[in-house]
Amino acid sequence: MTYPLGIAKAELDTPALCLDLDVMEANITAVVGTCRRHGVGWRPHAKGHKVAAIARAELTAGALGVTCAKLAEAEVMAAGGVRDILIANLIVGPQKLRRLAELARRADPIVCIDHLDQARPLSRAMAEAGLRVRVIIEVDIGLARVGVAPGEPALALARELKSLPGLQLVGIMGYEGHLLTVPECEGKADKIAQALETLAATRRELEAADIACPIVSCAGTGSYLHSVRQPGITEIQAGGAIFMDAYYRHKCQVPELDFALTVVATVVSRPAPQRAIIDAGRKTMHGDFQSPQVVGRDDVRIVRLSAEHGELELDPSAQNLKIGDRLELVPGYADLTTVLHDQFYCFRGGRLIDIWPIEARGKLT
Ligand SMILES: Cc1ncc(COP(=O)(O)O)c(C=O)c1O
Repeated sequence: MTYPLGIAKAELDTPALCLDLDVMEANITAVVGTCRRHGVGWRPHAKGHKVAAIARAELTAGALGVTCAKLAEAEVMAAGGVRDILIANLIVGPQKLRRLAELARRADPIVCIDHLDQARPLSRAMAEAGLRVRVIIEVDIGLARVGVAPGEPALALARELKSLPGLQLVGIMGYEGHLLTVPECEGKADKIAQALETLAATRRELEAADIACPIVSCAGTGSYLHSVRQPGITEIQAGGAIFMDAYYRHKCQVPELDFALTVVATVVSRPAPQRAIIDAGRKTMHGDFQSPQVVGRDDVRIVRLSAEHGELELDPSAQNLKIGDRLELVPGYADLTTVLHDQFYCFRGGRLIDIWPIEARGKLT
């Protein structure tokens, strides 16, 4: 939908995904400040926002590049003027290798490798195109998703990569994604430190073998406040931090940063005194990891999301909520909410100032 600029949220049709740019920029400034205080770089993940203008704002604020989950996201970022792009994924297949060569002509991507069977075709494709692409070894630091084992297996892979034309080994990365929701009182900080120490130790092994390892990359929003403290880490990838959400706040226990991303919804039914239904269900906002949170009201709770209906449980103080009333909600998980929408309605000081298409939405290849 298009609207005249200057309108208030109350004038939007619902449901609508709203982004408070002042809050987002304050979050960006806060993350940059945290990184600077600890002497690490910031390479924010763009998988959650998928908008080149946001990536440019992050770079202007001090980010050293961006991270993408998919080659197609990286293509969108490159088209928007971003050059330094870590594709934190494995690139496999001739179609993608052709596209990567094209991308490497316009930008300066880094590609993950955890096996020679990705590296050899990549090397051939780059050498044939007369190009050299940066590669980073993905190390499994406990997530058990992808990645070569730390230590000797990573070193053996590094030695092989050094001998392949068309590739420039620039470092290692790991993601401590299995530790985001460990309660602080159950040793989250120590567990993250131990996982990241395997990454730092791997770097030391590479350097002892005369293999330069300038980049040691890790961390997400749910861990970055601990990860920035770990010796040997050079950069973090926390991306969703710019939006914050109920999952990061409550399940990952991130105490800082404000909620920049909200969904505005309308009460469409009041079937019972304690129950209201809004026009925003799971096709509007993600709530599997953590329920969305109603802004400014602790007497109204989301208890169930079906495809297009959100069920609210009302305390006695909220039972005057009526059909047609509006509520603003913080998504459970921002990352899997933005992909449900075509655009961000961008606000400053409560007024619509822009509408940004979510450019890399659906860019899955
Ligand atoms: C490789 C990688 N790095 C970092 C992250 C963290 O991203 P965010 O900070 O947006 O939660 C993820 C999340 O899935 C990831 O897969």
